[in-house]
Amino acid sequence: MNNYFATVARGLEVIAAQELARLGAKAVRPDFAGVYFQGDKALLYRVNIWARTIFRVLVPIANIKAYNAQQLYRSVQNINWSEYLQINQTFAVNCTGKNKNLNHTHFTALQIKNAITDRQQKKYRKRSSIEPKNPDLLINAHIDRDRCILSLDSSGSSLHRRGYRPAMGLAPLKETLAAALLEMTGWTPDLPLFDPLCGSGTLPIEAALKALNIAPGLYRQRFGFQTWQDFERDLWQEIVTQAKDSQLSTLAAPIIGSDRDLKVIEQARINASNCGLEKQIKFLQQELSSVEAPAERGIIICNPPYGQRLGNTKELESLYQLLGDILKQRFRGWTAYILTGNKNLAKKIGLRTSQRLPVYNGSLSCTLLKYELY
Ligand SMILES: C[S@@+](CC[C@H](N)C(=O)[O-])C[C@H]1O[C@@H](n2cnc3c(N)ncnc32)[C@H](O)[C@@H]1O
Repeated sequence: MNNYFATVARGLEVIAAQELARLGAKAVRPDFAGVYFQGDKALLYRVNIWARTIFRVLVPIANIKAYNAQQLYRSVQNINWSEYLQINQTFAVNCTGKNKNLNHTHFTALQIKNAITDRQQKKYRKRSSIEPKNPDLLINAHIDRDRCILSLDSSGSSLHRRGYRPAMGLAPLKETLAAALLEMTGWTPDLPLFDPLCGSGTLPIEAALKALNIAPGLYRQRFGFQTWQDFERDLWQEIVTQAKDSQLSTLAAPIIGSDRDLKVIEQARINASNCGLEKQIKFLQQELSSVEAPAERGIIICNPPYGQRLGNTKELESLYQLLGDILKQRFRGWTAYILTGNKNLAKKIGLRTSQRLPVYNGSLSCTLLKYELY
């Protein structure tokens, strides 16, 4: 059994812990912006390809003394890096956290890089190169008081980068957040799902991936662990093949997205076709005012602009008001979920919420508002 730590967005720890447990993780324990869990190497690979709500899986390798730069440098030099990194391999260091003496993450990362390459230089008269973008080994350093936890980042780039979305709307949701919001609604694929302000289509696409049991990591170019020395190609191939074999071919209920902006609808269609979903999800160019319920019941979910990034207040007030009116008049029998970061705008919806779930969209504190539409 190995120890792992999944990094997640603030507020999504419990949702992520539930997902990890469903994937077979043991000793699952949510903490601030992360979840501890245990498992074997197959689980590590499976979580990387299947998890919808987490950013990265870190594998801790050392917990060292790091009172100041000198102590950190010495502690890092005491680690046998040849176990993880060969001279002809590239690496990079990501750092989070700080203490009194190590209070700049770039500086801390630099100490670690120097300690590793100086050790290599002394032993082999050669050193690994630094490759910030796509390193063979990504090291994560977390400073916590006078200690530093060093981990290997098994994901490489963040898992919200599914690989299906080179095209982006103006204010797209992170894929991991969209997947988590869908979990929070309790939506099941037998229910129609509609996003009338879908932008680049993140919510409908994440819903369709889930409904068709498609592993979200299948479209990624690579994961960090694939260039590790202990990478087991056959085990990984088996997990990829299993993921491909377990996909379903048709949706049990329709998934629809619409937006007034033709450009973003075209982006949404490109994104959907990048994961083979162009025939599954219906994307329409449509003003909110002309939206009709596509079925007797279902889940309607959206994140209207909330002023931080898009739109001006007066326009937004009418948009929220219109949204409330449409829900009330045309979506009887449905359950609606609206993500917003603006309490004043939320009031303009004018309907009684049945639940308010706090959630962060990046650093913005938001609420997922639930409305039962009778
Ligand atoms: C915050 S974005 C949604 C982002 C989306 N969830 C994504 O991940 O790409 C809000 C969207 O609402 C759309 N919108 C704003 N007012 C609208 C209206 N009156 N009718 C239809 N769409 C509208 C905008 O074009 C924009 O794409």
